[in-house]
Amino acid sequence: MIGKKVHIKSFGCQMNKLDTALVTFALKDAGFTFTESASEADVVLINTCSVREHAEQRVISHLGRLQHIKKTRPDMVVGVIGCMAQRLDRKLLKHDAVDIICGPAQIPQITKLITETLKLKKEIVAVTENIRQKTDQRQAQALEDFESAYSAREKKIPGQAYVRVMRGCDNFCSYCIVPFVRGPEISRPPKAIIDQIRKLADTGVKQVTLLGQRVNSYKYKAGDKTYCLADLLRMASDIQGIEWIRFVTSYPSEEFFDEILRAMADLPKVCNYLHIPAQSGSNKILRAMNRHYTTDQYLHLLAKARDIVPAIAIAGDFIVGFPGETHADFEATVDLVKKARYKNCFIFKYSPRPDTKSDKKLADDIPLEVKKNRNTELLAVQEKISGELSAEYLGKEVRVLVEGLSKKPHLDSEKSDGNPQLIGRTATDYIVVFNAPPSLAGQFVKVKITKTSPLTLFGRLI
Ligand code: 5AD
Ligand code: SF4
Repeated sequence: MIGKKVHIKSFGCQMNKLDTALVTFALKDAGFTFTESASEADVVLINTCSVREHAEQRVISHLGRLQHIKKTRPDMVVGVIGCMAQRLDRKLLKHDAVDIICGPAQIPQITKLITETLKLKKEIVAVTENIRQKTDQRQAQALEDFESAYSAREKKIPGQAYVRVMRGCDNFCSYCIVPFVRGPEISRPPKAIIDQIRKLADTGVKQVTLLGQRVNSYKYKAGDKTYCLADLLRMASDIQGIEWIRFVTSYPSEEFFDEILRAMADLPKVCNYLHIPAQSGSNKILRAMNRHYTTDQYLHLLAKARDIVPAIAIAGDFIVGFPGETHADFEATVDLVKKARYKNCFIFKYSPRPDTKSDKKLADDIPLEVKKNRNTELLAVQEKISGELSAEYLGKEVRVLVEGLSKKPHLDSEKSDGNPQLIGRTATDYIVVFNAPPSLAGQFVKVKITKTSPLTLFGRLI
């Protein structure tokens, strides 16, 4: 398929970003070229997310735009990959634009699916029939081979790469679609993970982010030894060239918690950052969500994290307007946010997802207006805390891994020698804006913080 142009658009989480990187890598290997513009592409791929209805609606409207382009380019092939492909299966074919439907477990076949569709000009559907069945050995091996072949040659953010340590999820939080679209929880072999990080380091990667839906429950038995995330952190720390190691997302559980935090405290390369969603501050709602902890247990974990790693930055997720959430339940969430003192929080309005337990058993009874108001109120509470915590950086020197040009000009930033505004992040995941030459992308620099806002630090390159 030499010369055929591909445009790929990615929605959703870091797992999806990684899948997009894997697909891009494989298609480039097969001779495809890439374009930023959908209207000049021969093949358009959309990597989709099903976690909230809104994410799916965005994909549907994107398909509408592609259908419009297809009117003048009838040979253009459109593929839907990822979670929506698995969830909606053949139903997606009712959108005229769609030619290929490829679930997350079928992405190793993507080159073949595209080549066949271009040749035979007919629709192809490749998804897992029974997603909760243990992955068959051949499919598991195909995924593993596809994944381990990846070494980031072209990186969206220079110097950084995601590395999956687990697939799927077995937790079945009652609101969550992930177990139904990404399948059972499987930990990748430690050797495959470490070899891959080594390969990434050889191509100049300095920061790896280890990915798993419940990354702290990583567990792999090899011979007499059971490897946990702390083992991976230690092994990854020994790799030359890797300077920062992160991991997301953590589930609030005692299992392996101390080991992981001790690894964070002991190993200078492991970033002092924990993303550990609480989802609600009401024990009644946590039970209905099938989250296996109380707010007291959750706060105990945070206290322990701060005790073992004093400089740790903690981020969270919350869902507001879960079925049956009373004003008192919401107040308990506000109270938890105040006590937890997160660096930042992602707050979502409950969105019922088909097949999940909460959708089947509970009415979506909180009016949208109430969800919106709770969302706004919780954000305001968090913003005040974020502002207080980021202000502690004022006047300090921080080490920053530079990502590249800042997309929006931050009016607050200082001018310096005509250099553009760059953004980067601290080990604690704070965004830092400063003026410097764009050639610094992918490098570590020191920045002196001269101004702060709740989510951003502004400073001067040292
Ligand atoms: N509705 C709203 N938010 C959700 N999340 C997951 N499922 C839903 C849903 N059905 C949120 C959770 C999770 C984050 C990735 O998305 O907060 O941590
Ligand atoms: Fe969804 Fe819960 Fe698994 Fe996270 S841990 S992916 S919220 S089921």
